[in-house]
Amino acid sequence: MIKTIAPVNIALIKYWGKASLDPVLPSTPSISVALKDFYTVTEVDQSETFSFHLNEKPVSQEVLKKTEAFVRLFQPEGPLKLAIKSTNYVPTAAGLASSASGFAALSLALHHFYGRSLNDYVALTAKGSGSAVRSLEGGAVMWHLDGSIERLNIDLSAYQMAVIMIDTSPKKIPSREAMAMVQSSPDYQGWLVRNKARALKLKDALTHHDIKTWGLLMEESTLDMHALGAIAAAPFVYLKEATLLLWQALIEARKNGLEAYATADAGPNLKIIFNRKNREAITHFLNRHPFSYVITDFTDQGARLWSK
Ligand code: ADP
Ligand code: DP6
Repeated sequence: MIKTIAPVNIALIKYWGKASLDPVLPSTPSISVALKDFYTVTEVDQSETFSFHLNEKPVSQEVLKKTEAFVRLFQPEGPLKLAIKSTNYVPTAAGLASSASGFAALSLALHHFYGRSLNDYVALTAKGSGSAVRSLEGGAVMWHLDGSIERLNIDLSAYQMAVIMIDTSPKKIPSREAMAMVQSSPDYQGWLVRNKARALKLKDALTHHDIKTWGLLMEESTLDMHALGAIAAAPFVYLKEATLLLWQALIEARKNGLEAYATADAGPNLKIIFNRKNREAITHFLNRHPFSYVITDFTDQGARLWSK
């Protein structure tokens, strides 16, 4: 039996569009940070048949097929005889990056189960979910246009993230579909130029611990990503009224000196980054709103074999 664990990562600069499907390559670089208290634990064991239990329940046929197709990348031929059991310590499919920690943990488990060489490991992981490659490493990670990942040499111990649960029900449009849809956006080419420039600037700002610059770049990348969906040929919106109201309140609080910045992924849940010295002020701010939230540190540890 192989057991692995992988952290959820949250993008500061978003991956939103593919330059290629095979191999999966992003259309702009992205940068993320790995969360300590949100993760996936996955076990892979030999079995008579193929099965996948997620959060202690058998998955839907659709997820089973998708997972089977992923496992096929590791075992192209012959009957699949393995049982996968995985637990997400994060809501599943709610825009809180369960696919990132989920596929990173599964990919590492399969890597050990099949004893493959590490050569194409990152590329295989990307086929499960592009953002998952950033969960293979801990800390701040950049996913480059050529598909490689780079662990950035940055100490994140001064910062924390509040993850605010606005609505954790599964999203209606999977990120993969949404990403294909935004390619029709009339501003897609503009996004590519802007987001690449942001990634380079943010990398620099992170190195200089310039939270104001990286916080604002993260907000820009987030809102630009969501705007692309809003002007796609078949428009769609992941953010909810409550997301925007809370974000607006944060912007107001910032004017009064609260240094904190927000982001949201393919869902309505907001994540706020701040320096841990402001934790009390953030708690005070969040307690004035009706949503539950978790404050987490970042972690230096990426996907790894489980050890107690
Ligand atoms: P999220 O916003 O949580 O990343 P997505 O819709 O992008 O949501 O991805 C959710 C999908 O990721 C699930 O339907 C499933 O196919 C896959 N997934 C989630 N958790 C796991 C896991 N622990 N192991 C393998 N696949 C997972
Ligand atoms: C909004 O990695 O889930 O979270 O590669 O098609 O599986 P696929 O997409 P996925 O998209 C993540 C999108 C995002 C932004 C990000 O994490 O960079």
